[in-house]
Amino acid sequence: MQHLGTAIQEVMARAEAMSKQSENSNSQTEHSADINCPDCNDTGFIIEKKEQTQPNGEVVLKDLGRQCHCVRKKALKNAFKNALIPDEFKNARFDNYEINTDAQQTLFDAIKEYLKDFPNIIEDESERNSLGFIAAFGETRIRSLQGEAKYQAKEDHNNFGLGKTHLQMAAAKWILNRIRVRDDIEMNAETNKRFNLDLNTKSKFDRGCQVLCVSDITFMDDLTSAKMAGDGGETFKNLLHNAINVDVLIWDDLGKAKYSESKEGLYYQIINERYLHKRPIIFSSNEDKGTLSEKIGYAASSRLLGMCGDRLYAVEGEDYRLRRGA
Ligand SMILES: Nc1ncnc2c1ncn2[C@@H]1O[C@H](COP(=O)(O)OP(=O)(O)O)[C@@H](O)[C@H]1O
Ligand SMILES: [Mg+2]
Ligand SMILES: [Zn+2]
Repeated sequence: MQHLGTAIQEVMARAEAMSKQSENSNSQTEHSADINCPDCNDTGFIIEKKEQTQPNGEVVLKDLGRQCHCVRKKALKNAFKNALIPDEFKNARFDNYEINTDAQQTLFDAIKEYLKDFPNIIEDESERNSLGFIAAFGETRIRSLQGEAKYQAKEDHNNFGLGKTHLQMAAAKWILNRIRVRDDIEMNAETNKRFNLDLNTKSKFDRGCQVLCVSDITFMDDLTSAKMAGDGGETFKNLLHNAINVDVLIWDDLGKAKYSESKEGLYYQIINERYLHKRPIIFSSNEDKGTLSEKIGYAASSRLLGMCGDRLYAVEGEDYRLRRGA
């Protein structure tokens, strides 16, 4: 069995990982039946005849399997689907992000620096692994004002249309395209038997980095209604599991959902679990450092801000959609 070589081991490990990966991801987007690869007939393998020298010196032709080029492509396509990048941001990229204002410069530099460090952040499982874009003057603070003061604060401290979401989605795509992570995967006995292999039960290998993009209101609504669903908590557990375990969680508009005690518990659970396992969160919020804790709870927000360290950027500026000449 030795001569099966590493190519096939790698293929098996990858198949295993991909099936695990799709178990963990959104069930509606699991299968991509639309891809057809003529090179491997969608098996993912290419079998080639290779000469091999036997222990007795005899040279024989052997069927050797290697991974087809389409495997990587399929995995990437699924990863993009599973990341749940909203349609309106499918074209959000770094190269079409305009930089004309201080806020835009700050945000762009912040994400650029972060992504530059990102391979190390993932590899070293850093404690300070997250990035946050917040408001200088939070929504809740503006809302608490009256009359003229409220109007003035809105004028002076705009946090909308700065391109926070644009940059977060561009980052999601960048990570999906380039970052690979290493895992220990338990090779199960079933795989060994099915393919008549003699593999180690544990094997290190690398796979594409998983990303999940959630938008606060929708996500918290989904969690809340899943809690009530009559499926014994299955859907709820899945949603929570994904948010906690995905390699990178991108959380847009954090703290926008209406406050409730049960939401506060959910924020804490997700953020704390990610904190404990050193998994990054890239988030944006229309709240400021103070008002964020009113919306997601103090325990969750202090954890999250700790995960960001210096990578917390309070910004305000002109709404891109209202810019001159637009
Ligand atoms: N600097 C920019 N360059 C190009 N497009 C931008 C820029 N800033 C915002 N946009 C676009 O304007 C819209 C609103 O931006 P968005 O990212 O939603 O802002 P925010 O999340 O800060 O409220 C999006 O369609 C986004 O692609
Ligand atoms: Mg936004
Ligand atoms: Zn193929």
